[in-house]
Amino acid sequence: MSDIALLRTGIELPMKGEVVYFNYFWLRDNCSSSWDNSTQERTFDILAEADDMHATSACIKNESLEVIWSDGFQSRYDLNWLSRWHKGDNHGDLAVRARATWYGDHYQNMARFTYDDVIANPPSVADWAEAILDEGVALIQGMPNSNEGLKTLCELFGVVRPSFSGYTFDVKSKANPENLSYTDKALELHTDLPAEELAPGLQFLHCRINDAEGGNSLFVDATTVANALKQNYPEYFRILTEYEVPYRYTTDYQDVRAKQRIIELDPNNGEVSGIHFSQHLADVFDLSQRKMDIFYPAFRKFGQMLQDPQYLMTFRLNAGECIVFDNHRIAHGRSAFIKGSGARHLRGCYVDRGELRSVYRVLRAKYPKVEVVTPHQSAIEL
Ligand SMILES: [Fe+2]
Repeated sequence: MSDIALLRTGIELPMKGEVVYFNYFWLRDNCSSSWDNSTQERTFDILAEADDMHATSACIKNESLEVIWSDGFQSRYDLNWLSRWHKGDNHGDLAVRARATWYGDHYQNMARFTYDDVIANPPSVADWAEAILDEGVALIQGMPNSNEGLKTLCELFGVVRPSFSGYTFDVKSKANPENLSYTDKALELHTDLPAEELAPGLQFLHCRINDAEGGNSLFVDATTVANALKQNYPEYFRILTEYEVPYRYTTDYQDVRAKQRIIELDPNNGEVSGIHFSQHLADVFDLSQRKMDIFYPAFRKFGQMLQDPQYLMTFRLNAGECIVFDNHRIAHGRSAFIKGSGARHLRGCYVDRGELRSVYRVLRAKYPKVEVVTPHQSAIEL
């Protein structure tokens, strides 16, 4: 095995049977002394270092790499810590989890929690967050019939994130609607607000009243559908992951525009992570007309697959329930009401997914998952 080599730009050292390389600037920037102990923020300024900053000596002692820098400063790095970064394991991330595919029959198995439970028990918040990370959707039951109840629920994950509609929005349907937002018409499957540069991450829909007949909620795991498209129509899948199309929302005082890919891929692993899909906010698509020849068949096929009953979960959202879902992963809509049959009021708002993941990392580290062992499993182990 070779010894440590001090090169012009970095250090080569033996590690677990191979020779690995670390850049001088990276090492100096990430010396343990670079972080403030109380804030845990970096206080070291790599910009102020000399252009030719380098190590003058380095050795391995007590499972650590010890380095003396050209200005005389000394640093020490745990070899296991260096190995993790060399392998790309980084900090590790509890919030990067395998997505659990679901289909149209998911309603009975959808994760359910009560408001009182999650308010009182942080481990239940960890379980709730985990259900949303894995399945993209969970139901909170026993909600108080108040605006404050929804706000309190949201704040278990983070602050309410405003959109171009404000901090919250109301979806109301009345027996005698006085304007279009109060109609009894069906709402086609969509994800919310793709016209925003960053479409909202997590959506909360709190059902305050539902006396109407009809008006069932429609939810689809779009990652399941996109993966089926990838398998059966790979060229369509490629088009929808590569082409960007415009979305737009306009009022008398707003003109919100953004371009999005219909199918999003997860930068962590290249898997399908979500979609941007809304026919009512789709602007005039501006691809070249030749590209329309392939784009529209792909777009139509994917949209038709979203509506396929094998993928479509249909259920009634009841007063006192709040459905919480990943707005990038889950397409949602509703069927039409029976005209004049009664009132329906949903109050909604958004929280960023980054806040969900942050809460999950902290709570799951503090409250590790308790695996439930069935009597049958116990007997086998005994
Ligand atoms: Fe919506």
